[in-house]
Amino acid sequence: MKKSNQIFASPLFREGFISQMKKLSQSYVLLTDSSVQKLWSARIEKELSKEGIKVLVISLPAGEKSKTRRTKERIEDQMLSKGLGRESALLALGGGVITDLGGFVAATYGRGIPLVVVPTSLLGMVDAAIGGKNGVNTAHGKNLIGTFYPPDLIGIDTSFLETLPKKQLIQGSAEVIKYGLTLKKSLFHDFDWKFTSAFLDKIVKESITIKTSIVEEDPEEKKGLRRVLNFGHTIGHALESAHAYRMPHGEAVAIGCLVESYLSYRLKYLSKESFQKIEEFFASSPFSFKISPKVNEAKIKEAMARDKKAKNGPRFVLIEEIGKVVPFKGEYCTAVPDKELNHAIDWMLYGKMARK
Ligand SMILES: NC(=O)c1ccc[n+]([C@@H]2O[C@H](COP(=O)([O-])OP(=O)(O)OC[C@H]3O[C@@H](n4cnc5c(N)ncnc54)[C@H](O)[C@@H]3O)[C@@H](O)[C@H]2O)c1
Repeated sequence: MKKSNQIFASPLFREGFISQMKKLSQSYVLLTDSSVQKLWSARIEKELSKEGIKVLVISLPAGEKSKTRRTKERIEDQMLSKGLGRESALLALGGGVITDLGGFVAATYGRGIPLVVVPTSLLGMVDAAIGGKNGVNTAHGKNLIGTFYPPDLIGIDTSFLETLPKKQLIQGSAEVIKYGLTLKKSLFHDFDWKFTSAFLDKIVKESITIKTSIVEEDPEEKKGLRRVLNFGHTIGHALESAHAYRMPHGEAVAIGCLVESYLSYRLKYLSKESFQKIEEFFASSPFSFKISPKVNEAKIKEAMARDKKAKNGPRFVLIEEIGKVVPFKGEYCTAVPDKELNHAIDWMLYGKMARK
């Protein structure tokens, strides 16, 4: 396991950051996707070249479809055919797809080369780039193959968000709201859908602090604490799977946060008043909360049985206040009675939530 990384805040690609990159290697593969390449990569390539860093740009089609073992193989073949050895490094510049894939390539190329991660999406900055997890998707599910490989350097610069489409900002917000509901109530109470740059700076900074502190305590997901980050994801992942991954992750997590808050309330951990606040928040949010009519209780339950926290059935992270999880003796998750789970799923699919 590599030691923990250094996180640089904006402005990036100035002297300090590049000189740190140069210490790691003078030859980089810049892995990016087609959208980020058009907007940002030429500028960054120029800055690196100015400092004498050699750059090979590899650009992939934007989107989740690039996050496969085949794409990984193609990237590796391209690197091998250019004769790149263990002295080279990889710079992953993009959203979570690129940082996950780039991390996996760096972890295994030559048995591990230096990795620099520069997230350009909100989700990447607040979540995917922090924590050292990487991976690819398979026909059997998302992120099933990968490693823990913390980057040597992480560069966070919220000016990348100036070009990020609003719908991607909204999707990335779901994880920030999750931090608010579980660990830092101000991230929930002060959420502002106008996304001013000052607000983005604030939520990115606070989210990084939260995720980093949890990851440092439990770098390889061996203790219970990291499960807190899974709030909203038992239902969220099940929804994504039941929609054959056509439902955006942020949308699924947002619904998951609401339903798991509902469960927390039904099981008497969360007060009615707090639950109502959460319900009102999501009702006036830009999430659509549209679930396909083809998704039924059986599909949701089948997907939940494969959840990584499952132990003789699904287990849930629950909250006892806005900004506070129920510790469950350090397990941070619990099984819930079948009757209550069925009720919550019904509420999601056919009840009040479904009529948002
Ligand atoms: N490793 C982890 O811990 C972790 C955590 C959460 C999510 N993830 C993974 O992250 C992925 C989702 O991340 P994502 O939402 O960033 O998806 P993404 O990488 O597909 O990016 C979303 C879209 O935004 C575009 N984009 C990114 N930055 C841009 C910018 N600055 N300007 C304009 N367009 C830009 C991309 O081209 C893409 O079309 C999933 O694969 C998920 O599994 C990983």
